[in-house]
Amino acid sequence: MPAMWALMESLDSFSDWEYSGTLPFTITDPVLSNIGNTPLFPYEERSLSGTVKIKAEYENPTGSMKDRIAVGMLKELEENGEIEPGDLVVEGSSGNTAGAVALAANRLGYECVITTPVGNSEQKLGYVESLGGELITCPDVPTEHKEYYRNKAKRVATERGGVWLDQYSNQTNPTVHSVWTGPELVDQYPELTHVVCPMGTGGTMSGIAKYIKEEHNSDVTAIGVDAVESNVSTAFYGHEEGEYNTEVEGLGKGHELSTMWFDYIDEVRSVPDRDAFLQARRAASQYGLLIGSSSGAALHIGREIAIQKPNAEVAVIACDGGEQYFDTVFDNDWMDERGYRPQ
Ligand SMILES: Cc1ncc(COP(=O)(O)O)c(C=O)c1O
Repeated sequence: MPAMWALMESLDSFSDWEYSGTLPFTITDPVLSNIGNTPLFPYEERSLSGTVKIKAEYENPTGSMKDRIAVGMLKELEENGEIEPGDLVVEGSSGNTAGAVALAANRLGYECVITTPVGNSEQKLGYVESLGGELITCPDVPTEHKEYYRNKAKRVATERGGVWLDQYSNQTNPTVHSVWTGPELVDQYPELTHVVCPMGTGGTMSGIAKYIKEEHNSDVTAIGVDAVESNVSTAFYGHEEGEYNTEVEGLGKGHELSTMWFDYIDEVRSVPDRDAFLQARRAASQYGLLIGSSSGAALHIGREIAIQKPNAEVAVIACDGGEQYFDTVFDNDWMDERGYRPQ
């Protein structure tokens, strides 16, 4: 089946996936069954007047919330009869989605190709070949170039008769978070007043926000987090686009995507890279919470709210863990070369 047709079919069927109290798919695989049900840890900084809790998405099997959408995207295609074990699934990813798709494909019996731009985290991409996937490294070229990693993913899928998952447009990405991550968070933290979540594709924030606004309590404030040199917030507020240039992995985008459901989101706040890195380091060294830097950015905003609002109950979504960044954010030389550490 041609790849684009498969994708369109999957987008059509997502409308059936309204929240019904159970997941719209079943996971029987013993490894994939460990996805989700991630812990919620208190962030115990005494100077805060409100409460901050960290939703530890890094406890998922490949270390990020992308495990949820990887299994969700495959299951949805599978249950619609669009793929069956032995078929090829293709995704373009520079980070956490790569490993997540590789694991889900392996366990569910699919061939897997991941295309990735050159120069990305070896720690994250290490999952792909280790888990039996094929990794194609693409040159650093403009988005319209045929070798650009997403264009390459689409082409590989077409040429080899596979399905391109495309988390950047696939509505199953935010939908999975609206039927899974959102309800799970509210069950753990019914009194919450604010949810703070890093945005890249916007899938995690959009899905959680949709569930909370429609099914829980529309007074809960949903705050997306962007990098300063990025265009999620400019798109959200209708401002002129600027540069897209951040070293915080996973955070921000060059432009708006259809996976960003802005109608459910109340605010998008931008965090300087330096604040994201220093906050991730403080969470680890002072409180033993080893979070990545996009999570550091979200925690930076979560703290701001808890300082200003004594009654705030803030959930911060920690998308991945610090062990992915020992050679960058947690490396003093890396930080000093960029002038990020206070002298
Ligand atoms: C570490 C990290 N943080 C945040 C995000 C953004 O998540 P989403 O794409 O759901 O907006 C990503 C996405 O790749 C990520 O890898």
